[in-house]
Amino acid sequence: MKVFITRHIPESGLQLLRDAGITYTEHTEKRNLTPEELIAGCREHDALLSVGGNKLNADFLQACRHLKVIALMSAGYDNLDVDTAAALNIPVGNTPGVLSNATADTAFLLMLAVARKAFYMHKTIEKGEWGFFDPTANLGQELNGRTLGVFGMGSIGTALARKCHGAFDMPVIYHNRSRNEAAEKALGAKYVSFEELLAQSDVLSVHAALTPQTDGMFNAAAFRQMKPTAIFINAARGAMHNENDLLEALRSHSIWGAGLDVTNPEPMDKHNLLLQLPNVAVLPHIGSATEEARGGMARMAAENIIAGLKGEPLPHPIRLVR
Ligand code: DGY
Repeated sequence: MKVFITRHIPESGLQLLRDAGITYTEHTEKRNLTPEELIAGCREHDALLSVGGNKLNADFLQACRHLKVIALMSAGYDNLDVDTAAALNIPVGNTPGVLSNATADTAFLLMLAVARKAFYMHKTIEKGEWGFFDPTANLGQELNGRTLGVFGMGSIGTALARKCHGAFDMPVIYHNRSRNEAAEKALGAKYVSFEELLAQSDVLSVHAALTPQTDGMFNAAAFRQMKPTAIFINAARGAMHNENDLLEALRSHSIWGAGLDVTNPEPMDKHNLLLQLPNVAVLPHIGSATEEARGGMARMAAENIIAGLKGEPLPHPIRLVR
């Protein structure tokens, strides 16, 4: 049995495949595969381990209907047409949970970096602009007691809420498809409507899945409803915010700052005007980029491949968010 892997993955995942007697081909060039290359690669293999944003749409799935299993090495599955995969009886799995802590850390890092203009201040030193001590310059915000608003209270949102609650005593409000009673009990988190989330959050952090409902949700109309002192964080998917609207909201002081681990589009252009604003911090989609999380993701994806190739139920099947 042979699996096609679209990027080089951590060794512990490859080891599991080898131990199970599965051979693999890794696409090791540091570039995205074209749709044609992806189909050609899969034709010679029984399974696909997909890393990155390869579009696994209906055309791809029809062309690769022979695949016995598709394992995504990501929690998000917005790049996969799950309905067509189900119709073609191709089992699909992903890697949620294991990256929650790392991704929440990234959101926390962005929140603090924005609040203290940290990335921008670093750049001023590089440019030789560390002037004299001015007690009225470079002022940021303190986070103690500020309200954290979480959009998408799954495991990443809950992990962030726990960190903010513990570190800065931040009251937590959230908006989600359904109530998260565990977070309400453990953290006193309060469920609010989307409008209340916008109006009441001092820091609004996005951790929902990208779906047709959440696509573009953070647009001019949403930013207008936020506090002028609010910080917007997105560590989920860039498509959930409109980047021009975000820039305009920051320039017009409709909101105070923004921290992005995901951009729209990715990669962000180096001339993007957001990068020049003091109250903005941007990272290149490194939410899950820790040894622990990426190793765990590689092993979960390998476990899905091994089970799928044996015709067994996947240990980590995609659990749909509708
Ligand atoms: C995920 O797991 O969805 C991360 O964003 C990496 O793609």
